[in-house]
Amino acid sequence: MKIFVTRKIPEPGLAVLRKEFIVEVNPLDRVLKKEEIIAGIKGKDGLLCLLTDQIDADVINAEPNLKMIASYAVGYDNIDIAVATKCGIPVSNTPGVLTETTAELAWALLFSVARRIVEGDTFTREGSFKGWAPMLMLGQDISKKTLGVIGTGRIGTAFALKSKGFHMNVLYTDEQRNEQLEQQLGAKKVSLAQLLKESDFISIHVPLTKNTHHLIDEEQLHMMKKTAVLINTARGSIINEKGLVKALTEQWIFGAGLDVYENEPELSEELKRLKNVVLQPHIGSGTIETRTKMALMAAENMMIGLKGGIPPNCVNTEVFQKKPTT
Ligand code: DGY
Repeated sequence: MKIFVTRKIPEPGLAVLRKEFIVEVNPLDRVLKKEEIIAGIKGKDGLLCLLTDQIDADVINAEPNLKMIASYAVGYDNIDIAVATKCGIPVSNTPGVLTETTAELAWALLFSVARRIVEGDTFTREGSFKGWAPMLMLGQDISKKTLGVIGTGRIGTAFALKSKGFHMNVLYTDEQRNEQLEQQLGAKKVSLAQLLKESDFISIHVPLTKNTHHLIDEEQLHMMKKTAVLINTARGSIINEKGLVKALTEQWIFGAGLDVYENEPELSEELKRLKNVVLQPHIGSGTIETRTKMALMAAENMMIGLKGGIPPNCVNTEVFQKKPTT
């Protein structure tokens, strides 16, 4: 069987696939256009794609032989799951292996914004540091403050648990109660409005869906404390980026740390100019260990899926449900 991989991923994953399949990897080190993905999957049985690929109905329907889509990411808002399911194609993702890594980046951003690390680094390098000064580059304390976690799935939970050493008061929003956080941290489940009003640090960990698109808009930004710090390592469109630029420019909040953007990889020029925002290039899962584990996981899912089994990280298991006999 043949597989198309839309961009080079860590070699251990490709090596697993090459043992059993004919593997074609996009030789260009860039995101492919839709037509290029369609051309790539021609005659292929499997598609291994990235979060930067739009896998919509045109792509899924382009190759009638397509049997499996393995995504090299935990978030799969870029794939039309309903269409894949209708075509009987299992889709898999890479949950779990990137949980701690992404939670760590959220904390790195939180510290960077609260203690103005990037600004301080630039200031020092450019020779502006003329000696200790009582009012120089003052930030926000973190210990004993209130942490607001929006979404306490795997990553949100890991992020919240890491607050333990900082003795924080933890608030969270989620559809479900998170007993682990309640027992281990005394965390409290509250409404989004209460979380926004009371938290000093707010971190977003929900997937992008119709319901979470612009979950944080101007109205929500207005609810936050003037000293609040907002962190987003989930998906850009959960925040209305224009509204955020306004909030940061007019200092409705203290700052923001972003790893994801509404029109990724584009970001508004204003964001680039603002000093109270720390920007990262969507590297939440970007460590050598984690990206390798993601490659192995995507490969395993692909292998099992193409052999007719249920991929361990299948997100549309409905495709395996037996159709009722008439
Ligand atoms: C994912 O896997 O969805 C992450 O955004 C990658 O960093």
